[in-house]
Amino acid sequence: MKFFFSVITGQLLAAVYRDYIDRLNLHGNERVMDFGSGGGTLARIVAERLLVGGGTLTCVDISERWMRLLQRRLKHFPNVRYYHLGHFSELSPSAQSQDIVLVHFVLHLIPPEERDDVMRHLAGQLIRNGRLCVREPTAQISLEEIDRHAMAAHLVQIEAAISRMPLMGETYEVVYCKPV
Ligand SMILES: C[S@@+](CC[C@H](N)C(=O)[O-])C[C@H]1O[C@@H](n2cnc3c(N)ncnc32)[C@H](O)[C@@H]1O
Repeated sequence: MKFFFSVITGQLLAAVYRDYIDRLNLHGNERVMDFGSGGGTLARIVAERLLVGGGTLTCVDISERWMRLLQRRLKHFPNVRYYHLGHFSELSPSAQSQDIVLVHFVLHLIPPEERDDVMRHLAGQLIRNGRLCVREPTAQISLEEIDRHAMAAHLVQIEAAISRMPLMGETYEVVYCKPV
């Protein structure tokens, strides 16, 4: 039931997610990793944007169940790859293969003592000048804490805003850059 509710909620939120992706100004040719893709509401919108310019999307999630649903929902997108993670440390800390990493409503679910390490591994996925885009509910994790984890991963903040989202309340939207 909870699972079913999440899928319905995801559909309702798609318009809001679209606005968020608009604000990220994708060109369409980027290599994007979506860390914690869940049921794929955000991933689907990103995959559509990347189809036009030859970009690729790598969806990563720790949940087998979400991964299966995601693969079903995005099966028509040839530009999407899937990676079912057992643990974030499976992501090489020095892969440097992505232009953008998305962390959308995921960091607050990670145990606090692992968040620095997660950010470091995600920063490791980025090329120099690549962007890490985070959006989290401020009721669950403070913006100061998110900034602290990003600083520990040697990322530099380039944009930040507070926005309100239906059902989710206030959110912190922040973009960090990996310095050259
Ligand atoms: C609230 S959902 C967000 C889904 C999607 N990003 C969105 O905004 O619609 C959080 C997702 O993060 C995944 N997740 C939680 N901890 C994770 C971890 N350590 N590594 C990868 N994925 C994780 C969960 O399985 C779940 O699919």
